[in-house]
This record gives sequence, C-alpha cells and structure tokens, in this order.
Amino acid sequence: MNTNETQSDIWRWMPDQMSTFASNVDGLFYFILILCVIFFTLIVGAMVYFVVKFRRRTDQDETPLIKGNHTIEIIWSVIPGILLIAIFTWGFVDWMKLGTVPPNALDVRVEGYKWAWSFVYPEGIVSGELVVPVGKPVKLTMSSKDVLHSFYVAEFRIKRDVLPGRYTVQWFEATDTGEHWVQCTEYCGTSHSKMIAKVKVVSQEEYDEWISTGGGMGDDVPLADLGKMLYEQRGCVACHSLDGSKVVGPTFKGLYGVERKFTDGTSAVADDNYLKTAILAPNDTVVEGFSPVMPSFQGQLNDRQISALIEFIKSVSQ
Ligand code: CUA
Repeated sequence: MNTNETQSDIWRWMPDQMSTFASNVDGLFYFILILCVIFFTLIVGAMVYFVVKFRRRTDQDETPLIKGNHTIEIIWSVIPGILLIAIFTWGFVDWMKLGTVPPNALDVRVEGYKWAWSFVYPEGIVSGELVVPVGKPVKLTMSSKDVLHSFYVAEFRIKRDVLPGRYTVQWFEATDTGEHWVQCTEYCGTSHSKMIAKVKVVSQEEYDEWISTGGGMGDDVPLADLGKMLYEQRGCVACHSLDGSKVVGPTFKGLYGVERKFTDGTSAVADDNYLKTAILAPNDTVVEGFSPVMPSFQGQLNDRQISALIEFIKSVSQ
C-alpha cells in the first residue's frame, strides 16, 4: 500500500504521505510555495510593467523627484509582516509536535555508522531494518559511532541529524503499512549514497510475530542465508563487493582460505578465526592497500550471526 489513492494526481510529485506529520508538513510547504508564486508574479509583473510604461522616450525626458508614499509603504510592510508571523506560528506549532514524544511510544535505538544503520529494540534484537507497527508512535533515540549522519524518511517527512557523542530524538507514527527507505542526508564519506536501510511498517500482529522470532534472525534460517541477509542489512555491502571489485574494503570474492598481507608487514590465512577477529576488531590488522575505517561489530552481532557471515563469505569465495 505504497500509493495513497486519496491524493489527487497533481500532488504526485511529492512522496506519499505515510505518517501523521506528513499532511501538516506538506500543508505548510504548499502555503509558502503558493505565497511565493503569487508575490513573484506580482513583483516581477509590476517591474516589467513599470519598465515599459515609464521608459525614457526622448532626450528631454526627466526623472521626477519621488518623495515616498506612506500608504503604500505601510501596506507593503504590514501585509508581509502578518504573513511571516502566520508562517512562523504554523511552523512553530508543528515543530513542537515533532519534538514532543507521546508517552506510549515504542522505543527503538538507532545507530548510524559508516555506512549503515542498525536498530536496537528493547527486547535485545539488533536489526538492519526498521520494523514498526502501523498506527503506533515510535520514538527513535539516535547516535552515531563515527561522523555526522542524518536520518531521513521521505514518506514520513522526518529528518534529523545523527551525531557522535550525543543522542538526538525523533518520533513518528506511520499511518499505513508498506515499505520505505531510510536515507542518510548528511555527506559522510565514500559510500554515503549507500547508507540506506529499509523501513517496514507492518500490522501489530506481524510486528509481535517479528519480535517473538528474534527479528527474522531465527534458528530456522540456514547459516549462509542468514549471512547473506546480514551482509545486505548491516552495511557490509557498502564496502565489500562480491564480484572482485575493490571498494572501500577488500572484496569477499576468493577471500576465504587465502593468505592476507597486512600493512604492518605480517600476514595470515583468512580462516574462520581470522574472519571473526576481522569482524569484531577490524582495525587490529589492516589488509595492504586499505585504510582502518571499518567499525567494530563487537556487541552488534551474536555468535550465530558471526558464524553466519563467515559461512556466507565461504560460500561466495568459491
Ligand atoms: Cu551517513 Cu551520509
């Protein structure tokens, strides 16, 4: 249900309105847009008209001495003044709503890092996808592990900076089920454009089911499949290719069982132990030709998930 059938076609150029904020945000946007169009037309129209009407026709034409007109000056000061106060009040009231989290909100912690998002649920689930129930307020407490990022979901009309060293808070309530994208809207390095995550708005029943099965990471998922899922969801994909191409980090193609040379002159064979260390303490040894930029996944992945990633790397190495 990504399309909103009630919206008329003329407004199609905006993303669908999928949160309780969306129509307010769009309303203010259109109000300002229409005002600008009206005033642009009036001002430029008057300018063109005066240029033509009062142009210098002969060499004897003289510009008359104009001393001002109080009536006109008051009109063009007071009317825009009232409009600006209206825009401010409208914006301020909505902005306060954006900042006031309802007490019954569902708590989700958001961590941004180069270059992925992870979502931590009170039940202990760490997910690469933001799964939320429809019609329920969700509070996001956000922080960054490294540099400035920004959390943006177009359909919800929400965007807030995600900072290292302090929390920022954002909330929303989705009005319909469907899938959207979280995008990073603060330039944060090489793979900034790949710093995306899926938002899934589901029914309360589906949400409860998702929580009770450990966020889709259950024991019934085969290791290599789970590894593939984690590879895509947890941001590995932003830096490690599967086709041999060099991105930010080494490719996974042909990686398993091969000798790796490190920047400190040492070397090791990429076996299970090496891969586990590389995931948990990635910058202890850095492969030649690369920089120590990978975040640690200590505490982010459990043992089964680490095994799953290793199995996945094995499966794509052959
Ligand atoms: Cu994170 Cu751009």
